[in-house]
Formats: sequence, C-alpha cells, structure tokens
Amino acid sequence: MPRQPQPLKRKRGVILSSWGLQRLQEAQERLEMETNRGDRYTLEKLSLLTGLSTRSISKVRSCKEVVDRQTLENVFLAFHLTLIPDDYIQPEVEAIDEPQPVIPIQQDWGEALDVSTFYGRRKELSTLKQWILPDNCRLVGILGIGGIGKTALSVKLAEQIQDQFAYVIWRSLRNAPPLETLLGELISFLSQGQDAKADMGKLIEYLRNSRCLVILDNLETIFQTGDRAGYYRPGYENYGELLRLIAETRHQSCLVLTSREKPAELAQFEGIALAVRAFYLSGSLETAQALIGKTGLKGSDPQKQQLCDRYSCNPLAIRLVSTSIQDLFDGEIEAFLTQATTVSMAFAAYWISSSIASRP
Ligand SMILES: Nc1ncnc2c1ncn2[C@@H]1O[C@H](COP(=O)(O)OP(=O)(O)O)[C@@H](O)[C@H]1O
Ligand SMILES: [Mg+2]
Repeated sequence: MPRQPQPLKRKRGVILSSWGLQRLQEAQERLEMETNRGDRYTLEKLSLLTGLSTRSISKVRSCKEVVDRQTLENVFLAFHLTLIPDDYIQPEVEAIDEPQPVIPIQQDWGEALDVSTFYGRRKELSTLKQWILPDNCRLVGILGIGGIGKTALSVKLAEQIQDQFAYVIWRSLRNAPPLETLLGELISFLSQGQDAKADMGKLIEYLRNSRCLVILDNLETIFQTGDRAGYYRPGYENYGELLRLIAETRHQSCLVLTSREKPAELAQFEGIALAVRAFYLSGSLETAQALIGKTGLKGSDPQKQQLCDRYSCNPLAIRLVSTSIQDLFDGEIEAFLTQATTVSMAFAAYWISSSIASRP
C-alpha cells in the first residue's frame, strides 16, 4: 500500500538563508577590517561580541541547525545589521521527523563553470542578489567584454541564491541552439519530464506557477556581428520574443542572462519596467590581485598594480598573462613589464577581438 503523505509541521526556530549568511559575512569582514587589521575573529571573540555561547554561534553559521529568531537578531545587531525576513528560513520537517529539504529544489546546472575558486565580487553579488530577491526582477542582464567574469559571476550568483527557488536551470547558448531546442529543454526540466513541447506560453505558465531561476550564458552567440549589436542572427529573432514575454508578463521567476552585447529587449524595457535591469561588469582589482597571488608571481605591490592596470583587471587576461610570466620570465613581473611587448601585443589582439557590451 502506498505510504500516506505525512502532513508537514513547522520546526521551531530558523536558519540563516544564503542571502543572510552573505550579509553577515560581509558585515563581519568589514568589522574585522576596521577593528582587527583584517584578521578573522575567533569563535571566542565572536562570542564576546554577540553575547552568545560559542555553540550557538557555530549553530548559526552552520545554516543547518535551527536557532531561535532572537539569537539571529542578536548576531546581526552585533554587526550593526537589522535582521530582515530574507535573512532566514523557517524549515519544515515531516511529522515522522525525517529531515526534508527546505524547498523541494530541482536543479540542472548543465555545463556550468566550476567556481570553487572564486575571488572578490562581493559588491556585484550583493547588488544582483538585491535585484533578484527583494526587488523581484524578472529579467537581469550581466553585460561586459569577454573574459571579464560574467560566466563565473552568474554561476556564483546562482549558487548563492539557489535555495530561494524551486527550480534552478543554467544553460550556455555557446552552440547557438535554436529557440525550440532550448524551450524543449526548459519545459522538460520544469515539468519534471512530463512535457517537452517547445511552447513559449507554456514556459511562462511554469514561470508563473513556481519560482524558477533560469540562467542563459553567452547570449551574444545568437546576435549578429558587426554594427548591428544587440540584433539577432537570422533564425534567432524568436529569442527576442521570449525575452519580451519574460520582461512584460507577471510571474514569480527570474531570467538572468550574460552577454557581451546588450539585447534590444533589455534596452527597451529597462527604463520603464523596474523588473528589468542591466548590470555592467567591469574588471575587479580584488579578483585580479587574488589571481596574481595564486600564481605566485614575484614583484612589488606597485608592479602587481601595474600589471592589473595594464589588463584593466580582466580576470581572463590576468590568468593568461600570469601563466606567460611564469613560463617566460620565471615569475618576475618586473622583467615582463619591461620586456614583454610581444606578449602585450598578443593580448591586445585578443582584446580587440572581444566586442564591448553596448551601452544605452
Ligand atoms: N571572481 C573570479 N574569481 C576567480 N576567477 C575568475 C573570477 N572571474 C572570472 N574568473 C576566471 O576568469 C576567466 C574568465 O571568466 P569568465 O566568467 O569565463 O568571463 P566571461 O564570461 O565574461 O567571458 C575564467 O577562467 C574564470 O574562471
Ligand atoms: Mg562567459
């Protein structure tokens, strides 16, 4: 006999959401910078700051064990933050006390980049999270030149907010799939294999019924090259219709896209609908410095700074040039900076070939 579904009951207490954890970590890092020369606080110091036991602090930071709301409020107050509902989750458990996921999340990460080594971008992530969670944006474009870190940021972002969505799907358009192929995949995933008919109206219905996060990477692949930036290649115009529907229609989901060029629909709706926004990604000094540090290049701080400036803190360019400096200059940044015209020329060529995100 099939087991009768057990009614869900609320577990007493709350746990930090990934959004809340991020806010808390950022505030802690700020305070550590101001009062502790950037060194991490020990558990004992955190206990003194918050007036809580070290055990309670470990529970809060585990994001798994429940604590009461007041405990979270105290922790947030210690870092000059006010606890808001997005900061925590009230988990549910089955009556028979089997652990259950907070939300039945379905995920398909496709060929998403591994972002286990990811540096910086806290401000960018915080803005994007603000747009997607409290502001409920329906369409968000992450725009910028090649190698600047759009893909990495989109994956990190999705990782950090995944638990706020019932469905998360990440797809690259690098191979320029016709819209029908993409729609079929999205609908098959969202219907959990029950349906695969490529139908835009159906997709919107799913986006309306459940909170879904859809990430489409490399949208520029389906744009025309040359002057007609932001216009679709012949045969791909129906992608514009999809973006328009997602921007215009009421639903509870979010489509995040990354692109070197700004799609016309984003430009068109950005001004009038608050739910449609474009984020221009530029280089990150923190990321560039961390990448240089990881490769173990030798040089003074001003030399490292000069290297970052020369490549506008573009993570891909920094990664590539760091490897060249290791191989050709024995890791000496100074030798590279004085002699490396040839290497610089190669990178200049790469840069010219990368199209710049069109601005309004
Ligand atoms: N914040 C980051 N931390 C570490 N590596 C990064 C970061 N951002 C980008 N990278 C690395 O730089 C390279 C280019 O990033 P990517 O996201 O592919 O750029 P884009 O999508 O804009 O072309 C990748 O190898 C990626 O791993
Ligand atoms: Mg990319």
